[in-house]
Amino acid sequence: MGLEKKYKTGILWQDTQHRQLIDLMEKLSDADTREAKSKMFTYTTAFLAMYVTHHFKLEEQYMKAYEYPDLEFHVKEHQKYINLVKQFRRDHSSFSGEGALFLEKNILEWILNHIMENDQKLGVFIRGEERKRILAEEG
Ligand SMILES: [Fe+2]
Ligand SMILES: [Fe+2]
Repeated sequence: MGLEKKYKTGILWQDTQHRQLIDLMEKLSDADTREAKSKMFTYTTAFLAMYVTHHFKLEEQYMKAYEYPDLEFHVKEHQKYINLVKQFRRDHSSFSGEGALFLEKNILEWILNHIMENDQKLGVFIRGEERKRILAEEG
């Protein structure tokens, strides 16, 4: 399934990874029994912890390589989120309806907003830098 336009950065690896996250959220919100919800809750929290570390690292490598002017702010946002996820996992080591709601409403909302605002800007920047490099190679 394609990625909604508002989440698209135009950078293939970034869009692919964001798509994974959005698929996961859809699965979580589609889980309609307590048992299914509970399973998805456990899976999503574990996945998120692994995902953010890996995904943020990759974005940060690009920011460094291309000397992204907003690097410091963007990295701080990532750090905030890693802490938020860590705290959430400490507070919700097992499933609860309240935890699932917080996960959907706060934890997952945060990352969607981050994609729409910060990652979009980063995507525009990376595309610009890549275009410059291609033009320079063509001389
Ligand atoms: Fe991202
Ligand atoms: Fe980001």
